[in-house]
Amino acid sequence: MPFLKMTDLDLSGKKVFIREDFNVPIKNGEIQNDARLQAALETIQLALAKGAAVILGSHLGRPAEGKFDPELTLAPVASWLTKHLRQNVELLHDYLHGVSVAPGQVVLLENLRFNVGEKKCYDALSKQLGELADVFVMDAFGTAHRAQASTYGVAKFAPIACGGPLLVREIENIERSLSNAQHPIVAIVGGSKVSSKLALLDALIEKVDTLIVGGGIANTFLAATGARVGKSLHEPDLISVCHEILEKAHRLNTLIPMPIDVGTAEHFDEHAECVFKDIIDTTRDDMILDVGPKTAKNYAKLIQQSKTVIWNGPIGVFEFAHFTQGTEKLAQTIAGADAFSIAGGGDTIAAIDQFNVHDGISYITTGGGAFLEYMEGKKLPAIAILESRFADSNKI
Ligand code: 3PG
Ligand code: MG
Repeated sequence: MPFLKMTDLDLSGKKVFIREDFNVPIKNGEIQNDARLQAALETIQLALAKGAAVILGSHLGRPAEGKFDPELTLAPVASWLTKHLRQNVELLHDYLHGVSVAPGQVVLLENLRFNVGEKKCYDALSKQLGELADVFVMDAFGTAHRAQASTYGVAKFAPIACGGPLLVREIENIERSLSNAQHPIVAIVGGSKVSSKLALLDALIEKVDTLIVGGGIANTFLAATGARVGKSLHEPDLISVCHEILEKAHRLNTLIPMPIDVGTAEHFDEHAECVFKDIIDTTRDDMILDVGPKTAKNYAKLIQQSKTVIWNGPIGVFEFAHFTQGTEKLAQTIAGADAFSIAGGGDTIAAIDQFNVHDGISYITTGGGAFLEYMEGKKLPAIAILESRFADSNKI
Protein backbone atom coordinates (compact mmCIF):
# COMPACT_ATOMS: atom_id res chain seq x y z
CA MET A 1 0.00 0.00 0.00
CA PRO A 2 1.70 3.17 -1.15
CA PHE A 3 0.73 5.42 1.75
CA LEU A 4 2.04 6.30 5.16
CA LYS A 5 0.79 4.09 7.99
CA MET A 6 0.02 5.03 11.56
CA THR A 7 1.86 1.96 12.79
CA ASP A 8 5.14 3.37 11.38
CA LEU A 9 4.87 6.76 13.09
CA ASP A 10 6.19 8.00 16.39
CA LEU A 11 3.11 9.51 18.01
CA SER A 12 4.56 10.23 21.42
CA GLY A 13 3.17 13.52 22.73
CA LYS A 14 1.48 14.18 19.38
CA LYS A 15 -2.10 15.26 18.85
CA VAL A 16 -3.71 12.71 16.55
CA PHE A 17 -7.06 13.11 14.79
CA ILE A 18 -8.46 9.70 13.87
CA ARG A 19 -11.38 9.57 11.43
CA GLU A 20 -13.42 6.48 12.21
CA ASP A 21 -16.69 5.15 10.82
CA PHE A 22 -18.92 5.10 13.89
CA ASN A 23 -22.02 5.16 11.69
CA VAL A 24 -23.76 2.41 13.64
CA PRO A 25 -27.47 1.60 13.99
CA ILE A 26 -28.87 3.36 17.07
CA LYS A 27 -32.45 3.02 18.33
CA ASN A 28 -33.76 5.06 21.29
CA GLY A 29 -30.19 5.88 22.24
CA GLU A 30 -29.13 2.21 22.22
CA ILE A 31 -26.44 0.93 19.87
CA GLN A 32 -27.90 -2.04 17.97
CA ASN A 33 -24.69 -3.42 16.49
CA ASP A 34 -21.25 -2.37 17.71
CA ALA A 35 -19.14 -4.23 15.13
CA ARG A 36 -17.76 -0.99 13.67
CA LEU A 37 -16.87 0.26 17.14
CA GLN A 38 -15.16 -3.00 18.08
CA ALA A 39 -13.21 -2.90 14.82
CA ALA A 40 -11.86 0.58 15.64
CA LEU A 41 -10.80 -0.17 19.22
CA GLU A 42 -7.42 -1.59 18.30
CA THR A 43 -6.48 1.59 16.42
CA ILE A 44 -7.46 3.81 19.33
CA GLN A 45 -5.64 1.64 21.86
CA LEU A 46 -2.53 1.59 19.71
CA ALA A 47 -2.54 5.40 19.38
CA LEU A 48 -2.82 5.66 23.17
CA ALA A 49 -0.06 3.10 23.68
CA LYS A 50 2.14 5.18 21.39
CA GLY A 51 1.63 8.15 23.71
CA ALA A 52 -0.78 10.18 21.57
CA ALA A 53 -3.48 12.64 22.58
CA VAL A 54 -6.43 11.23 20.67
CA ILE A 55 -9.21 13.11 18.90
CA LEU A 56 -11.83 10.84 17.33
CA GLY A 57 -14.32 11.88 14.68
CA SER A 58 -17.10 10.24 12.68
CA HIS A 59 -20.34 10.92 10.91
CA LEU A 60 -23.65 9.34 11.90
CA GLY A 61 -26.52 9.07 9.43
CA ARG A 62 -27.28 11.77 6.92
CA PRO A 63 -28.30 14.93 8.83
CA ALA A 64 -29.02 18.33 7.32
CA GLU A 65 -25.84 20.38 7.64
CA GLY A 66 -25.57 23.40 9.88
CA LYS A 67 -27.79 22.28 12.73
CA PHE A 68 -27.78 19.85 15.60
CA ASP A 69 -30.10 16.86 15.32
CA PRO A 70 -30.63 15.07 18.64
CA GLU A 71 -31.53 11.87 16.76
CA LEU A 72 -28.07 11.79 15.23
CA THR A 73 -25.83 12.69 18.14
CA LEU A 74 -22.76 10.55 18.78
CA ALA A 75 -23.48 10.64 22.54
CA PRO A 76 -24.24 6.88 22.68
CA VAL A 77 -20.90 6.25 20.97
CA ALA A 78 -19.10 8.45 23.53
CA SER A 79 -20.66 6.31 26.30
CA TRP A 80 -19.66 3.09 24.52
CA LEU A 81 -16.07 4.35 24.18
CA THR A 82 -16.00 5.46 27.81
CA LYS A 83 -16.94 1.93 28.83
CA HIS A 84 -14.63 0.06 26.46
CA LEU A 85 -11.57 2.31 26.81
CA ARG A 86 -12.10 2.48 30.57
CA GLN A 87 -11.66 6.23 30.61
CA ASN A 88 -13.99 9.18 30.22
CA VAL A 89 -14.43 10.09 26.56
CA GLU A 90 -15.93 13.56 26.36
CA LEU A 91 -18.15 14.46 23.41
CA LEU A 92 -17.12 17.87 22.01
CA HIS A 93 -19.67 20.07 20.26
CA ASP A 94 -17.50 23.08 19.61
CA TYR A 95 -14.21 21.98 18.18
CA LEU A 96 -13.49 23.60 14.84
CA HIS A 97 -11.24 26.29 16.34
CA GLY A 98 -9.12 23.90 18.34
CA VAL A 99 -9.29 20.97 20.71
CA SER A 100 -7.46 20.65 23.96
CA VAL A 101 -6.57 17.09 24.82
CA ALA A 102 -3.61 15.64 26.69
CA PRO A 103 -1.52 12.58 25.80
CA GLY A 104 -3.31 9.47 27.05
CA GLN A 105 -6.70 11.18 26.77
CA VAL A 106 -9.44 10.59 24.19
CA VAL A 107 -12.14 13.01 23.06
CA LEU A 108 -14.87 12.47 20.48
CA LEU A 109 -16.06 15.17 18.08
CA GLU A 110 -19.82 15.44 17.58
CA ASN A 111 -21.24 14.16 14.27
CA LEU A 112 -18.97 15.59 11.57
CA ARG A 113 -21.90 15.86 9.16
CA PHE A 114 -23.44 18.60 11.31
CA ASN A 115 -20.70 20.85 9.87
CA VAL A 116 -21.55 22.98 6.86
CA GLY A 117 -19.44 21.87 3.90
CA GLU A 118 -18.74 18.32 5.06
CA LYS A 119 -20.49 16.55 2.20
CA LYS A 120 -19.31 18.96 -0.49
CA CYS A 121 -15.81 18.90 0.95
CA TYR A 122 -15.43 22.67 1.42
CA ASP A 123 -11.82 23.75 1.67
CA ALA A 124 -12.51 26.02 4.66
CA LEU A 125 -13.87 23.12 6.72
CA SER A 126 -11.23 20.68 5.47
CA LYS A 127 -8.52 23.12 6.56
CA GLN A 128 -10.04 23.55 10.02
CA LEU A 129 -10.16 19.78 10.45
CA GLY A 130 -6.63 19.41 9.12
CA GLU A 131 -5.35 21.94 11.65
CA LEU A 132 -6.86 20.16 14.67
CA ALA A 133 -3.90 17.81 15.13
CA ASP A 134 -0.28 17.03 14.26
CA VAL A 135 -1.30 13.83 12.49
CA PHE A 136 -4.47 12.86 10.64
CA VAL A 137 -5.26 9.15 10.61
CA MET A 138 -7.79 7.85 8.09
CA ASP A 139 -9.20 4.67 9.58
CA ALA A 140 -12.83 4.87 8.39
CA PHE A 141 -12.80 2.24 5.66
CA GLY A 142 -16.62 2.24 5.62
CA THR A 143 -16.58 5.89 4.51
CA ALA A 144 -13.51 5.78 2.28
CA HIS A 145 -15.68 5.92 -0.86
CA ARG A 146 -16.86 9.41 0.13
CA ALA A 147 -14.77 12.44 -0.86
CA GLN A 148 -15.92 14.59 2.04
CA ALA A 149 -14.19 17.16 4.23
CA SER A 150 -13.42 14.72 7.04
CA THR A 151 -12.37 11.84 4.78
CA TYR A 152 -10.67 13.53 1.83
CA GLY A 153 -10.28 17.30 2.25
CA VAL A 154 -8.72 17.03 5.70
CA ALA A 155 -5.93 14.83 4.31
CA LYS A 156 -4.88 17.63 1.95
CA PHE A 157 -4.34 20.09 4.80
CA ALA A 158 -3.15 17.95 7.73
CA PRO A 159 0.60 18.26 8.52
CA ILE A 160 0.85 14.47 8.22
CA ALA A 161 -1.82 12.18 6.75
CA CYS A 162 -1.65 8.42 7.17
CA GLY A 163 -3.78 5.27 7.08
CA GLY A 164 -4.88 3.60 10.31
CA PRO A 165 -4.60 -0.10 11.18
CA LEU A 166 -8.28 -0.84 10.44
CA LEU A 167 -8.06 0.75 7.00
CA VAL A 168 -4.91 -1.26 6.29
CA ARG A 169 -6.50 -4.48 7.56
CA GLU A 170 -9.56 -3.98 5.36
CA ILE A 171 -7.45 -3.39 2.24
CA GLU A 172 -5.24 -6.40 2.96
CA ASN A 173 -8.20 -8.71 3.44
CA ILE A 174 -10.04 -7.53 0.36
CA GLU A 175 -6.86 -7.88 -1.69
CA ARG A 176 -6.47 -11.37 -0.30
CA SER A 177 -9.84 -12.23 -1.83
CA LEU A 178 -9.13 -10.55 -5.17
CA SER A 179 -5.68 -9.81 -6.62
CA ASN A 180 -3.77 -11.94 -4.13
CA ALA A 181 -6.41 -14.67 -3.94
CA GLN A 182 -5.94 -18.40 -4.10
CA HIS A 183 -8.08 -20.09 -6.76
CA PRO A 184 -10.70 -21.40 -7.14
CA ILE A 185 -12.56 -18.28 -6.05
CA VAL A 186 -16.33 -18.37 -5.54
CA ALA A 187 -18.23 -15.12 -5.21
CA ILE A 188 -21.82 -14.99 -4.03
CA VAL A 189 -23.69 -11.85 -4.97
CA GLY A 190 -27.25 -11.72 -3.71
CA GLY A 191 -29.74 -8.96 -3.21
CA SER A 192 -32.76 -7.60 -4.93
CA LYS A 193 -31.48 -5.79 -8.00
CA VAL A 194 -29.11 -6.52 -10.85
CA SER A 195 -29.09 -2.77 -11.55
CA SER A 196 -27.52 -1.92 -8.17
CA LYS A 197 -24.84 -4.63 -8.44
CA LEU A 198 -24.11 -4.47 -12.15
CA ALA A 199 -20.63 -3.00 -11.80
CA LEU A 200 -19.80 -5.59 -9.16
CA LEU A 201 -21.02 -8.54 -11.24
CA ASP A 202 -19.14 -7.25 -14.25
CA ALA A 203 -15.89 -6.83 -12.30
CA LEU A 204 -16.16 -10.14 -10.47
CA ILE A 205 -16.64 -12.37 -13.51
CA GLU A 206 -13.19 -11.31 -14.63
CA LYS A 207 -11.61 -12.37 -11.36
CA VAL A 208 -13.51 -15.33 -9.94
CA ASP A 209 -13.98 -18.92 -11.10
CA THR A 210 -17.61 -19.20 -10.01
CA LEU A 211 -20.19 -16.48 -9.50
CA ILE A 212 -23.32 -17.50 -7.63
CA VAL A 213 -26.13 -14.99 -7.97
CA GLY A 214 -28.99 -14.88 -5.49
CA GLY A 215 -32.30 -13.21 -4.66
CA GLY A 216 -33.94 -10.89 -7.18
CA ILE A 217 -30.65 -10.87 -9.11
CA ALA A 218 -30.91 -14.63 -9.67
CA ASN A 219 -34.54 -14.24 -10.75
CA THR A 220 -33.55 -11.82 -13.51
CA PHE A 221 -30.83 -14.23 -14.64
CA LEU A 222 -33.37 -17.08 -14.55
CA ALA A 223 -35.72 -15.02 -16.72
CA ALA A 224 -32.82 -14.42 -19.12
CA THR A 225 -32.33 -18.17 -19.48
CA GLY A 226 -36.02 -18.56 -20.36
CA ALA A 227 -37.21 -19.87 -16.99
CA ARG A 228 -40.66 -18.91 -15.72
CA VAL A 229 -40.19 -16.51 -12.82
CA GLY A 230 -43.88 -15.62 -12.49
CA LYS A 231 -44.53 -12.92 -9.91
CA SER A 232 -40.99 -13.07 -8.51
CA LEU A 233 -39.04 -9.88 -7.93
CA HIS A 234 -36.99 -9.35 -11.08
CA GLU A 235 -36.03 -6.65 -13.57
CA PRO A 236 -37.31 -7.37 -17.07
CA ASP A 237 -35.39 -4.33 -18.40
CA LEU A 238 -32.14 -5.96 -17.41
CA ILE A 239 -32.64 -9.30 -19.08
CA SER A 240 -30.49 -8.27 -22.04
CA VAL A 241 -27.77 -7.11 -19.63
CA CYS A 242 -27.91 -10.55 -17.97
CA HIS A 243 -27.45 -12.12 -21.41
CA GLU A 244 -24.32 -10.03 -21.89
CA ILE A 245 -22.99 -11.03 -18.48
CA LEU A 246 -23.67 -14.70 -19.20
CA GLU A 247 -21.89 -14.43 -22.56
CA LYS A 248 -18.91 -12.67 -21.03
CA ALA A 249 -18.74 -15.29 -18.28
CA HIS A 250 -18.81 -18.03 -20.89
CA ARG A 251 -15.95 -16.37 -22.81
CA LEU A 252 -13.91 -16.05 -19.61
CA ASN A 253 -14.71 -19.57 -18.48
CA THR A 254 -16.42 -18.29 -15.33
CA LEU A 255 -19.23 -20.49 -14.11
CA ILE A 256 -22.55 -18.83 -13.23
CA PRO A 257 -24.66 -21.72 -11.94
CA MET A 258 -28.42 -21.23 -12.10
CA PRO A 259 -30.89 -22.49 -9.48
CA ILE A 260 -32.39 -25.84 -10.53
CA ASP A 261 -35.04 -25.77 -7.83
CA VAL A 262 -36.57 -22.96 -5.82
CA GLY A 263 -38.68 -22.19 -2.76
CA THR A 264 -41.89 -20.50 -3.84
CA ALA A 265 -44.78 -18.68 -2.18
CA GLU A 266 -48.14 -17.42 -3.40
CA HIS A 267 -47.72 -14.04 -1.72
CA PHE A 268 -44.91 -11.97 -0.32
CA ASP A 269 -45.82 -12.51 3.31
CA GLU A 270 -43.71 -13.31 6.35
CA HIS A 271 -46.03 -16.19 7.24
CA ALA A 272 -46.20 -17.61 3.72
CA GLU A 273 -45.68 -21.34 3.35
CA CYS A 274 -42.77 -22.51 1.19
CA VAL A 275 -43.39 -24.88 -1.70
CA PHE A 276 -40.24 -26.30 -3.29
CA LYS A 277 -40.38 -26.82 -7.04
CA ASP A 278 -37.98 -27.74 -9.77
CA ILE A 279 -37.41 -24.69 -11.91
CA ILE A 280 -39.16 -26.33 -14.89
CA ASP A 281 -42.32 -26.68 -12.79
CA THR A 282 -42.73 -23.07 -11.69
CA THR A 283 -45.93 -21.32 -12.80
CA ARG A 284 -46.96 -17.78 -13.66
CA ASP A 285 -48.38 -17.31 -10.16
CA ASP A 286 -45.28 -18.36 -8.28
CA MET A 287 -43.10 -16.02 -6.32
CA ILE A 288 -39.55 -17.31 -5.88
CA LEU A 289 -38.30 -16.41 -2.40
CA ASP A 290 -35.49 -18.91 -1.90
CA VAL A 291 -33.41 -21.58 -3.62
CA GLY A 292 -34.44 -25.21 -3.27
CA PRO A 293 -32.49 -27.95 -1.46
CA LYS A 294 -30.89 -29.35 -4.64
CA THR A 295 -29.56 -25.93 -5.58
CA ALA A 296 -28.37 -25.28 -2.04
CA LYS A 297 -26.48 -28.57 -2.17
CA ASN A 298 -24.86 -27.66 -5.51
CA TYR A 299 -23.75 -24.30 -4.18
CA ALA A 300 -22.41 -25.93 -1.03
CA LYS A 301 -20.30 -28.29 -3.14
CA LEU A 302 -18.85 -25.40 -5.15
CA ILE A 303 -18.00 -23.51 -1.97
CA GLN A 304 -16.41 -26.55 -0.34
CA GLN A 305 -14.14 -26.98 -3.37
CA SER A 306 -12.99 -23.36 -3.32
CA LYS A 307 -9.99 -21.72 -1.67
CA THR A 308 -11.49 -18.23 -1.52
CA VAL A 309 -15.07 -17.12 -0.93
CA ILE A 310 -16.44 -13.60 -1.35
CA TRP A 311 -19.94 -13.10 0.02
CA ASN A 312 -22.17 -10.10 -0.51
CA GLY A 313 -25.92 -10.47 -0.25
CA PRO A 314 -28.40 -13.16 0.80
CA ILE A 315 -29.79 -15.70 -1.68
CA GLY A 316 -33.32 -15.79 -0.32
CA VAL A 317 -35.76 -13.85 1.85
CA PHE A 318 -34.14 -15.19 5.02
CA GLU A 319 -36.10 -12.74 7.17
CA PHE A 320 -39.21 -14.90 6.52
CA ALA A 321 -39.39 -18.01 8.71
CA HIS A 322 -40.00 -20.46 5.87
CA PHE A 323 -37.42 -19.07 3.48
CA THR A 324 -34.25 -19.19 5.55
CA GLN A 325 -33.04 -22.51 4.14
CA GLY A 326 -30.90 -21.32 1.21
CA THR A 327 -29.13 -18.47 2.98
CA GLU A 328 -28.68 -20.50 6.18
CA LYS A 329 -27.09 -23.40 4.34
CA LEU A 330 -24.92 -20.96 2.42
CA ALA A 331 -23.82 -19.19 5.62
CA GLN A 332 -23.03 -22.46 7.35
CA THR A 333 -21.15 -23.86 4.37
CA ILE A 334 -19.01 -20.73 4.07
CA ALA A 335 -18.33 -20.80 7.79
CA GLY A 336 -17.42 -24.48 7.69
CA ALA A 337 -15.26 -24.32 4.55
CA ASP A 338 -11.47 -24.38 4.61
CA ALA A 339 -11.39 -21.43 2.24
CA PHE A 340 -10.42 -17.88 3.12
CA SER A 341 -13.79 -16.13 3.31
CA ILE A 342 -14.69 -12.46 3.29
CA ALA A 343 -18.21 -11.13 3.82
CA GLY A 344 -19.73 -7.68 3.86
CA GLY A 345 -22.81 -5.53 3.38
CA GLY A 346 -25.75 -4.79 5.66
CA ASP A 347 -27.97 -7.75 4.71
CA THR A 348 -25.06 -10.16 4.75
CA ILE A 349 -24.10 -9.08 8.25
CA ALA A 350 -27.73 -9.47 9.34
CA ALA A 351 -27.66 -13.05 7.97
CA ILE A 352 -24.34 -13.76 9.71
CA ASP A 353 -25.93 -12.51 12.96
CA GLN A 354 -29.13 -14.51 12.46
CA PHE A 355 -27.33 -17.79 11.74
CA ASN A 356 -24.58 -17.05 14.23
CA VAL A 357 -21.67 -17.93 11.95
CA HIS A 358 -19.24 -15.07 12.78
CA ASP A 359 -16.55 -17.40 13.99
CA GLY A 360 -16.34 -19.34 10.74
CA ILE A 361 -15.95 -16.32 8.45
CA SER A 362 -12.31 -15.33 8.00
CA TYR A 363 -12.97 -11.62 7.65
CA ILE A 364 -16.11 -9.52 8.03
CA THR A 365 -15.57 -6.09 6.54
CA THR A 366 -16.96 -2.92 8.14
CA GLY A 367 -17.61 -1.52 4.66
CA GLY A 368 -20.96 -1.57 2.89
CA GLY A 369 -20.82 0.77 -0.10
CA ALA A 370 -17.04 1.09 0.29
CA PHE A 371 -16.62 -2.70 0.12
CA LEU A 372 -18.68 -2.87 -3.06
CA GLU A 373 -16.83 -0.01 -4.73
CA TYR A 374 -13.46 -1.48 -3.81
CA MET A 375 -14.50 -4.86 -5.21
CA GLU A 376 -15.70 -3.12 -8.37
CA GLY A 377 -12.13 -1.94 -8.87
CA LYS A 378 -12.84 1.71 -8.11
CA LYS A 379 -10.21 3.83 -6.45
CA LEU A 380 -11.65 5.04 -3.15
CA PRO A 381 -11.00 8.80 -2.82
CA ALA A 382 -10.00 8.73 0.85
CA ILE A 383 -7.31 6.17 0.02
CA ALA A 384 -6.27 7.95 -3.16
CA ILE A 385 -5.54 11.18 -1.26
CA LEU A 386 -3.31 9.32 1.23
CA GLU A 387 -1.41 7.84 -1.71
CA SER A 388 -0.98 11.19 -3.37
CA ARG A 389 0.27 12.79 -0.12
CA PHE A 390 2.76 9.94 0.16
CA ALA A 391 3.88 10.29 -3.45
CA ASP A 392 4.38 14.05 -2.94
CA SER A 393 6.47 13.49 0.19
CA ASN A 394 8.73 11.13 -1.76
CA LYS A 395 9.41 13.63 -4.54
CA ILE A 396 12.20 16.22 -4.09
C1 3PG B 1 -22.12 3.57 5.44
O1 3PG B 1 -22.62 3.03 6.43
O2 3PG B 1 -22.47 3.27 4.29
C2 3PG B 1 -21.00 4.53 5.65
O3 3PG B 1 -20.88 4.88 6.99
C3 3PG B 1 -21.15 5.73 4.77
O4 3PG B 1 -22.34 6.39 5.04
P1 3PG B 1 -23.13 7.11 3.86
O5 3PG B 1 -23.59 6.03 2.92
O6 3PG B 1 -24.25 7.86 4.50
O7 3PG B 1 -22.14 8.02 3.17
MG1 MG C 1 -23.98 3.79 2.72
